[in-house]
Amino acid sequence: MAESMQGLKRTHRCTEVTKADIGETVTLMGWVQKRRNLGSLIFVDLRDRSGLMQIVFDENDIGSQGFEKAGTVRSEFVLAVVGRVEARSGAVNEKMATGELEIRATELRVLSEAETPPFPIEENSQTKEELRLKHRYLDLRRPDIQRNLMVKSRVATLSRNFMAEQGFLEIETPMLGKSTPEGARDYLVPSRIYPGSFFALPQSPQLFKQLLMCSGYDRYFQVARCFRDEDLRADRQPEFTQMDMELSFVDIDDVIEVNEKLLAHLWKEILGIELQTPFRRMTWREAMDRFGSDKPDLRFGMELHNVSDAVKDCGFGVFTGAIAAGGSVRGINVKGQAGMPRKKIDSLTEFVKGYGLKGLAYLAVQEDGSYKSSFTKFMTSEELDKLVNAMDGKPGDLLLFAADKDKLALETMGALRCELAKRLDLIDQKKFEFLWVVEFPLLEYSEEEGRFTAMHHPFTMPMEEDLQYIDTDPGRVRAKAYDIVLNGCEIGGGSVRIHQNDIQEKMFECLGFTKEQAQEQFSFLLNAFKYGVPPHAGLAYGLDRVVMLMLGLDSIRDVIAFPKVKDSSCLMTQAPSPVAAKQLEELGIEVKKTDKE
Ligand code: AMO
Ligand code: AMP
Repeated sequence: MAESMQGLKRTHRCTEVTKADIGETVTLMGWVQKRRNLGSLIFVDLRDRSGLMQIVFDENDIGSQGFEKAGTVRSEFVLAVVGRVEARSGAVNEKMATGELEIRATELRVLSEAETPPFPIEENSQTKEELRLKHRYLDLRRPDIQRNLMVKSRVATLSRNFMAEQGFLEIETPMLGKSTPEGARDYLVPSRIYPGSFFALPQSPQLFKQLLMCSGYDRYFQVARCFRDEDLRADRQPEFTQMDMELSFVDIDDVIEVNEKLLAHLWKEILGIELQTPFRRMTWREAMDRFGSDKPDLRFGMELHNVSDAVKDCGFGVFTGAIAAGGSVRGINVKGQAGMPRKKIDSLTEFVKGYGLKGLAYLAVQEDGSYKSSFTKFMTSEELDKLVNAMDGKPGDLLLFAADKDKLALETMGALRCELAKRLDLIDQKKFEFLWVVEFPLLEYSEEEGRFTAMHHPFTMPMEEDLQYIDTDPGRVRAKAYDIVLNGCEIGGGSVRIHQNDIQEKMFECLGFTKEQAQEQFSFLLNAFKYGVPPHAGLAYGLDRVVMLMLGLDSIRDVIAFPKVKDSSCLMTQAPSPVAAKQLEELGIEVKKTDKE
């Protein structure tokens, strides 16, 4: 039976009680972690968001009725306990923050009873995630998840305070916006007043923050929820939170400076780590060539080598064919792995095939200097020596090669580099390697759409020195865009924006918009720009990703209270779900039957 807490007031959270409180009477309220009966004594570990405290029930302190009641409590019951703080009579528990203390209960109230939960509420749960997410309200009681969400809350608070001190204003932008092309797929919200018309949930506050710059707010900041209907991955959710900012009268270095200060502040306050600033910077081209990625993980080496020159005239058709077709041959040198069994190499081949590569060529430099390779029979020993030299191959090394179109060869080897580092345990998990990737291409050719698309977004400023190529060789134009990368994950990105009408028009032209289409889609921005627009630039972090990496976690779901699963549904609420016919009718929507039903 549930009792009331009337007349009682919580004095402390469990771990807020310290040795200094010994002899004092305190009132704690929380959940039963576990109960043990030891004859004349009953022990209960009480849990709240701060941690655990051991409660001792002794008939001499609490009376026979209270003692009997204590004997009935089970895991997850909610209790109020009044008692005296004492040094532990039994063995000290080093694992518990309050391991030297216990509370001798003088009063007990059962505020709520609980059924046996479908899985144990414990740290590092072994329970399948699917079951945990179905009962997320229970999963959220686990101490590790609670700590994650508390850190996330602190990151948001520290950021807000820091940004306010730096002169940023926190301004909200709408959730119900206009659907615009470019970017990911929108989540649409039907309008009741205009049947057949839709709002779009924001993919980011991008256009609104630029308008705020036009309106003179000069430094804007927002912790903003964003929505993107994309395929999910371990670091991607359909709704996520950005820490979003925009600044007027600035260039790249100003944005980078504020953000290095912000990140250093967060790491210092939360982890007690002094980050070295300025962070490293690398051009996109260099990152792709050396690491096969625009978000390189710098916690380990194993850089890519371009061996196209060394093999361009050799007898191995896979290599020369790729080069002749305009591609390249990229290799990685896996130090000391010449003895890797064939089976493992085969599984690496399967891995690269997943990226669309046709195969993976390998060459092991044996301890005696001879070669064991999948392609020796196609190459002379001089050709092989030349290749091994180009790879800086030494006895004991395993050399792996990809030959294909440049982009595919690079990206596949980049992915293989990370996969190998994981399998061979080459990553120092304690490191935080920050990197600015700069000078991204402005445009990216989309085979699918048969046109150039904006790599970042259509409002990104080209580098002044590259503007001359915009008509003749648009793929060559670099952008004033930058990403902030941490341990191989893009935690944020931004750019200097176009504030000149002629450049913006040119950009739309490159993207294949007619003047009319551009005006139709972005009239509010283009019009605003007619009335005096400051040069401006900005950046947005994925807050969830920042916290995930800060805590060394692998899944973004561990820092989001109520995340979605891979198919973008919520296992707990069963959203999305069909709606009543009347609702659809009001909205003027008719639903087509699909195979799924
Ligand atoms: P961008 O699209 O790079 O830039 O997004 C900024 C950051 O948001 C995070 N992020 C995500 N996190 C979780 N789940 C997702 N689906 C997801 N998508 C993105 C990433 C990313 O770096 N308006 C621009 C910013 C600007 O130019 O100022 C923008 O949205 O960490
Ligand atoms: P094959 O002549 O197809 O038997 O290939 C000989 C070797 O080259 C095998 O080890 C293949 O895995 C490898 N290989 C095939 N295609 C590629 C490619 N595109 N890049 C690198 N290696 C390849």
